[in-house]
Amino acid sequence: MAETSAAVGERLSELLPAPDTAERRVIEAMRYSALAGGKRLRPFLLTRSAALFHVSPRAALTVAAALEMIHTYSLVHDDLPAMDDDDLRRGRPTCHRQFDEATAILAGDGLLTRAFEVVADPASHTDPSVRCELVRELAEAAGARGMVGGQMIDLMVERGIGAQPQDVAAITRMHQLKTGRLILFACIAGPIMGKASPKMRASLHAYGRDLGLAFQIADDVLDETGSAQDLGKTPGKDAAHGKTTFVTLLGLDGARDRARLLSDQAVGHLEVFGPEADMLRAVARYVVERDR
Ligand code: IPE
Ligand code: IPE
Ligand code: MG
Ligand code: MG
Ligand code: MG
Repeated sequence: MAETSAAVGERLSELLPAPDTAERRVIEAMRYSALAGGKRLRPFLLTRSAALFHVSPRAALTVAAALEMIHTYSLVHDDLPAMDDDDLRRGRPTCHRQFDEATAILAGDGLLTRAFEVVADPASHTDPSVRCELVRELAEAAGARGMVGGQMIDLMVERGIGAQPQDVAAITRMHQLKTGRLILFACIAGPIMGKASPKMRASLHAYGRDLGLAFQIADDVLDETGSAQDLGKTPGKDAAHGKTTFVTLLGLDGARDRARLLSDQAVGHLEVFGPEADMLRAVARYVVERDR
């Protein structure tokens, strides 16, 4: 993961050059948030699953950087005062704290749109039909039927808008959309780029679906148990906002058990692969045992 993190950081820096022109400020804000680090889990999943199909590492890293741009945009907007109102992200002041709210909104918009420019460019894949499929899948994962939709449900649940159900089924769906869909994209981009068989693609799809949900349950647990030092963000915010999470529904141990079950289930979907998928098996454990 450390290797992927360094490589994707470099690729992001290349793909987000800061010009010497008047609009430089927004690109500085984009770089500030995108180059701040983070675990780079999505790039790791994408590059490892692409490697299963012998996709060019440079091409996989390019798509991984685009996905990380979209993930970073989602964090920049998630932290805004109108949403979670957070001051700390990736160990630094949030984008709107470091710059200002309007700049943070524009930086998010800039990262979102740049990501699609990058995926549409031939550097991401030589076959235009593959690029089209990546664009379509990424748009669906990021949009109102994916991350954006999940964020909407999250706010409605928190604010009691439209009397949203607050049971395990409803929170599961919210998590699958707000966090699961981008993680799922990370797992299927490789088989798309490598023109994998439907069977292998379906295996990684099932793996990504369970892993994405496990990841957000672990995030809910860490919000309760983690430290600002480890997380690089302020813990305790979900409880402070009175959010319904897996922890409020199942308790800490219940939430941890659910995450582990999903992680085991995710690994189970990889049985069509041999030892070449061991890194994906290991990361499924990391996702639920991590402390940051
Ligand atoms: C945080 O994602 C937001 C969620 C979707 C839970 P990460 O925990 O992957 O954040 P970074 O990228 O490591 O900062
Ligand atoms: C955010 O979930 C998921 C996104 C789409 C950004 P959270 O609000 O729980 O993420 P953190 O805890 O602030 O990273
Ligand atoms: Mg949020
Ligand atoms: Mg948040
Ligand atoms: Mg959280």
